Amino acid sequence: MANNILKGKRGIIFGALDNKSIAWKVAEHAHNEGAKFVLTNAPIALRMGTISELAKETGSEIVPADATSMDDLIKLYKTAIEKLGGKIDFVLHSIGMSVNVRKGKPYYDQNYDWTIRGYEVSGLSFHKTMQAAWQLDALAEWGSVVGLSYIAAQRVFHTYNDMADNKAVLESIARSFGYHYGIRRNVRVNTISQSPTATTAGSGVGGFDGFYRFANDLSPLGNATADECADYCISLFSDYTRKVTMQNLFHDGGFSFTGMSETAMQTYLKVMEDEKK
Ligand SMILES: NC(=O)c1ccc[n+]([C@@H]2O[C@H](COP(=O)([O-])OP(=O)(O)OC[C@H]3O[C@@H](n4cnc5c(N)ncnc54)[C@H](O)[C@@H]3O)[C@@H](O)[C@H]2O)c1
Repeated sequence: MANNILKGKRGIIFGALDNKSIAWKVAEHAHNEGAKFVLTNAPIALRMGTISELAKETGSEIVPADATSMDDLIKLYKTAIEKLGGKIDFVLHSIGMSVNVRKGKPYYDQNYDWTIRGYEVSGLSFHKTMQAAWQLDALAEWGSVVGLSYIAAQRVFHTYNDMADNKAVLESIARSFGYHYGIRRNVRVNTISQSPTATTAGSGVGGFDGFYRFANDLSPLGNATADECADYCISLFSDYTRKVTMQNLFHDGGFSFTGMSETAMQTYLKVMEDEKK
């Protein structure tokens, strides 16, 4: 359903690792909608992932940047502006990582060096992404910045660990920077709170398959896929959403506002029946 709604727009897309990544889908959809963009990821991810295939498919350049490094980010914006021929209209921050989650440390027994690293990668990098742009005045008037979040920022998901705190920070940064960048350049800043999605980062969370099934059973529209998330991102980069800013936008098939569904209840009733046997 390409309608060229990003024709003439220039972007930077962080976080495409492989073809399951949400950022990968966003890049494909943005390309189909007429945008030009630069792809970026941490140098180690560029070595491990398959981003060069995406660059070829979308005719885009890859610029390495560790999103925790202001030097890398400044270089990234300068290169992107030069290669794309003007200021940046949209930025996708699709970055998340918790060392505690990776290494199986629970919330109540964190290694704080790992906690700080996870915070820098998953939360603070969103601020740096915007502060680097601010320093260079790199974003165009009515630009759009989108970060990806998860509902564990509002409600407890028992194995989501320190990522829950990082997502709460991410959403707060969207509000605060959304204010300042709105005043300065009419730039909007939002987070999308996405359904569980089977990607490298998503599947790394303990019990992912259970979360996925539970969310799908609870949501009247079912879980949102990575492709559907990409569509939503495109709408937020487009000129059709110019006054949407400082929001955390749930993109989850209705999960966030459903207490119990018939499908989920059936599962419980079945367990209770089995217990009586
Ligand atoms: N998959 C899900 O279930 C789900 C649900 C809601 C929100 N999200 C969020 O979506 C975003 C994208 O994740 P995904 O699910 O596509 O997984 P993914 O693993 O494909 O993407 C995560 C990306 O973060 C990048 N990254 C890590 N450290 C970095 C650094 N220092 N600098 C630059 N990039 C770095 C990785 O290289 C990778 O490309 C994350 O913010 C994630 O928390 C995912």
